[in-house]
Amino acid sequence: MASLLQISQLFSLLFLLTLSPSLSSTCTSPKLISSYQTCTQLSSLSSSLHFTYNRLNKSLSIAFTATPPSPSGWVAWGINPTSTGMAGTQAILGYRNSDGTMSVKTLNISSYSDLVEGKLSFDVSDKRAVFNSGDGSITIFATVQNPGDGKINHVWQVGPSVSKGFPDKHDFKPENLASKGSLDLNGSGQSGSSSSDTSSSNDATKKRNVGSFILVLGLVFGLFSYLGCS
Ligand SMILES: *[C@@H]1O[C@H](CO)[C@@H](O)[C@H](O)[C@H]1NC(C)=O
Ligand SMILES: *[C@@H]1O[C@H](CO)[C@@H](O)[C@H](O)[C@H]1NC(C)=O
Ligand SMILES: *[C@@H]1O[C@H](CO)[C@@H](O)[C@H](O)[C@H]1NC(C)=O
Repeated sequence: MASLLQISQLFSLLFLLTLSPSLSSTCTSPKLISSYQTCTQLSSLSSSLHFTYNRLNKSLSIAFTATPPSPSGWVAWGINPTSTGMAGTQAILGYRNSDGTMSVKTLNISSYSDLVEGKLSFDVSDKRAVFNSGDGSITIFATVQNPGDGKINHVWQVGPSVSKGFPDKHDFKPENLASKGSLDLNGSGQSGSSSSDTSSSNDATKKRNVGSFILVLGLVFGLFSYLGCS
C-alpha cells in the first residue's frame, strides 16, 4: 500500500501546487496565468510579462516579474512611446525597502541621466509590487491606459541598489543591453472581442476542472490508502 500512499501524496501535492499563491519569474505561475490573457517569457534577464489588453477601453493590465541582482535592488518595466531603448521610456519601478515594505513608482526617463518621478505620458493605475520570497523575484502589477496601438516598444531592467528612492545604475552586460522588445497588443494578449473572451473563460473553466479532478483523485487515493493501511 506504500505506493498508493505515495501516489495520493503526489496528487495532494499537485493539487496544492495548483492553488499555490506563490509567483515566479517564469510563465508557469498558475495564479497569474488564470488572471491574465497571456504571458511572454522575455528575451533577457529571466523576466516575464503577463498581460491583458482590452481593446475596447484601451486598458493594458500587466504583471512584470524579474529578479534584482541583489535583495535591495530594483526591477522596472516600461513603454517607450518614441524609441526602442531606455531614453524616452515611461517606466514603472519596483523595489523592496529595508523594512520589507515594497515601493512602486513611475519614472519619466527622458535620458540616461534624467529620471523624473511623477506623471508618465499615459495614466497608470492599480500599481503595486510584490516580493516573491520563493525565488527573490519581484512582480510589478499595474494598469496602463492608452499604451499605444498594435506593436508597442517595451523595455525592462534590473539593478543592484536604490539610493534615496532612485534606482542606481544597472549593469551594462549584454543581457542588460538586450532587455527591450516589441509587444503586440493586437496579438494573443488581447481581450474585449467576443471570441477571445469566450476562449479565456473556457480556459479558466478547464483549469478549475483540472483542479477539481486532481482533488477528487487525491481524495480517492487517500481513502484507498487509509482503508488499505487500517
Ligand atoms: C476596461 O474593461 C475591463 C473589462 O470590462 C475592465 O476590467 C477594466 O477595469 C476596464 N478598465 C478601465 C480603466 O476602465
Ligand atoms: C518627461 O520628461 C521630458 C524631459 O524633461 C519632458 O519633455 C516630458 O514632458 C516629460 N513627460 C511627462 C509626461 O511629464
Ligand atoms: C489592431 O486591430 C484592430 C482591430 O482588428 C485594428 O482596427 C487596428 O488597426 C489594429 N492595429 C494595428 C496597429 O495593427
